[in-house]
Amino acid sequence: MSDSVSLGKGPSANKEPSAGREPSAGRELWSSRLTFILAATGSAVGLGNIWKFPYITGENGGGAFVLIYLFCIAGIGIPIMMAEIMLGRRGRQDPVTTMKHLAKESGHSRSWGLLGWLGVIAGFLILSYYSVIAGWAMAYIPRMASGVFTGLEAEAVNSVFASLVSSPESLLAWHSIFIFMTMMIVARGVRGGLEKAVTFLMPMLFVLLIILIFYAIDTGYFKQGLAYLFNPDFSKITTEGILSAMGHAFFTLSLGMGAIMVYGSYLPKNTSIAKASIAVAFMDTLVALLAGMVIFPIVFANALEPGAGPGLIFKTLPLAFGNMDYGTLFGTLFFVLLVFAAWTSSISLIEPAITWSMKTFKVSRIRASVISGFLVWLMGLLTVFSFNLASDFTFSSAISTKYGEFVILKDATAFDFLDYLTSNIMLPLGGLMIAIYAGWLMKKAYSREELNINRFWYPVWSFLVRYVAPLMVVVVFLNAMGVIAFVRSIMGI
Ligand code: TRP
Repeated sequence: MSDSVSLGKGPSANKEPSAGREPSAGRELWSSRLTFILAATGSAVGLGNIWKFPYITGENGGGAFVLIYLFCIAGIGIPIMMAEIMLGRRGRQDPVTTMKHLAKESGHSRSWGLLGWLGVIAGFLILSYYSVIAGWAMAYIPRMASGVFTGLEAEAVNSVFASLVSSPESLLAWHSIFIFMTMMIVARGVRGGLEKAVTFLMPMLFVLLIILIFYAIDTGYFKQGLAYLFNPDFSKITTEGILSAMGHAFFTLSLGMGAIMVYGSYLPKNTSIAKASIAVAFMDTLVALLAGMVIFPIVFANALEPGAGPGLIFKTLPLAFGNMDYGTLFGTLFFVLLVFAAWTSSISLIEPAITWSMKTFKVSRIRASVISGFLVWLMGLLTVFSFNLASDFTFSSAISTKYGEFVILKDATAFDFLDYLTSNIMLPLGGLMIAIYAGWLMKKAYSREELNINRFWYPVWSFLVRYVAPLMVVVVFLNAMGVIAFVRSIMGI
């Protein structure tokens, strides 16, 4: 069966209110599940995989961090993704209304609507900085296309990046364009054309990563790159690193804020949530690991710093493109596709806020988009200036006890703070609440009916979502807050 043929018809079938009806032919079922998988993959695969994963891996010393991250994807990410899709499909509304409605259905407090709220705010805050970074990627398109990087050495590439981020005007302009692009799509309703584009652009991004892998092998430092990514050295890992690995598992899978819940709300009744979740998590992880396998060999071949921070891919990839055959073409295409991947993600970041505000304030989709777009843009100024005019404006926060000092944030700019607050705190907190709701409060009959997985897998899921995921989140939180070190120091262990 040809996927693209069935997908051509998929999007409209997906959006119909009758999504819960039984599809009459096997073909339609395929089409719907694939459509959902594409939309969810479009949301999951984005800057998180290609920009953020390599740079936080570099900041946290490599292998051990990657291992913890993979562990979090499997043990927390997949079960919570299933839970989130399930709640969305059962509620079929925006996250706030869905949670209120489901809580009522199972006889619990309507204050579960707060979970939806947390998500709306988190999505809003994430998009405010996500858009600025997507703006960097956009700014690289004309630079790539005009051959700015051709034959450049690492130092010169660095200074191209430095001059970009030190210009508030450029960042502001690209940030504005990106928000405008996102809101254009959101205002028209998300699905449809976008999905067709995802079907074809996502695989292209994948192909380009593979081409880059060949370049990475060619550097002669591929082995070092792999060793860095996959040989765990636990002495490099800090409690902060563990928290970031977990936070990133949520971030990269778009979990914990209702984005996947909204997408789940369009999912036909009898598609397998488990298979869809595993497929999305698999593709997402694959893209991130490929990006890492491209970046680190380039880092080592050019004696760059793995912990260079948010600029890492902008300092490494142009070196590859600038020194390979057809680099101008591939490089331009790569940044176009990266912007596209960021675009499909950013839409899902704002979609919960749009569906919620349309309902709450009884405004049209267009008006909701214009207003939210303006607010996100405004909020984004904090990030724009945190790389230049306000880069000295940093703050640190630490809890000091008589047992020692527990640093939470050190010299954080507004961007660092927003990123920390959302990925490391809000998303895991949202995910924790989703796990608790789906695992403990929702009637088992409902979750069993929704998930419709066999006798073996249901208890596995249930165990993960009731015990493993919540415990892991709580332990990582307590660890990062210094509580565990504190208790150990008292008990002398
Ligand atoms: N997952 C996306 C990425 O990796 C970002 C993203 C989109 C997201 N929607 C989200 C993150 C919802 C958290 C929650 O780039």
